[in-house]
Amino acid sequence: MKELLKINKLSKKYHTMKGEIEAVKDFSFAAGNSSFIAIVGPSGCGKSTILSILCGIEKKSGGKIYFGKKDITIGYMLQNDTLLPWLSVLDNALLGLKIQGNLTKETKKRTIELIKTYGLGDFIHCYPNELSGGMRQRVALIRTLAIDPDILLLDEAFSSLDYQTRLEVSNDVYQIIKKENKTTIMVTHDIGEAISMADTVIVLSKRPAQIKNVYNIELNEDELPSSKRTHKDFNRYYKMIWEDLDINV
Ligand SMILES: Nc1ncnc2c1ncn2[C@@H]1O[C@H](COP(=O)(O)OP(=O)(O)O)[C@@H](O)[C@H]1O
Ligand SMILES: [Mg+2]
Repeated sequence: MKELLKINKLSKKYHTMKGEIEAVKDFSFAAGNSSFIAIVGPSGCGKSTILSILCGIEKKSGGKIYFGKKDITIGYMLQNDTLLPWLSVLDNALLGLKIQGNLTKETKKRTIELIKTYGLGDFIHCYPNELSGGMRQRVALIRTLAIDPDILLLDEAFSSLDYQTRLEVSNDVYQIIKKENKTTIMVTHDIGEAISMADTVIVLSKRPAQIKNVYNIELNEDELPSSKRTHKDFNRYYKMIWEDLDINV
């Protein structure tokens, strides 16, 4: 298999006291190495469910998921990814490795390198409340990267930030992901965020999530998301995706 990830007719039904909730239906998709995929869709359509299934938190009800690599490692960064306030930047960044039982001299060294590379070297012994929102987000991303994931899952990871910070963090995260060469799947309800960061945008229908459209985003990868937003094609994609989402209906 050439792809790193292949999903075939994935489906998910939750069984609750009130009955069955169909969250995902017939979701098929493949992701190559180093691709950056954004998934957009209305609130409650099943986006997070797809990521939860990919990382094994939830069980699928049907379909198949293939990984193009043995012992795949998946990093998951959630919405409002909170750092533990009583731990330093370094200890927060090492948390994922500790939980995995993979904290060694080697992995600790690598994490310190990541912290330094991404401009937090001077803050390594600081606590979260001493950092800006953008910096905290960067620590959360470093924590996810510290486990050296093959696939990075981001679930509305920036939605708690104010608009200005979100733009800055998008640039920041984009550069880090490109440099680390990670295959990324990002869930967002922000169309602009999806177009300016991803190379492929999957648009989902209302629940149960089904693929409505897939866009191949042909904007210059070497430009930062904030700069891609000024491109005339950005608006063209925006309009098409906006219409897919039926936001006014
Ligand atoms: N653990 C769960 N048990 C029951 N229903 C759930 C559970 N998780 C999510 N759902 C329901 O599944 C649907 C899709 O949820 P979710 O994947 O979180 O949507 P999104 O991330 O697109 O907002 C929603 O109706 C939600 O209420
Ligand atoms: Mg969600």
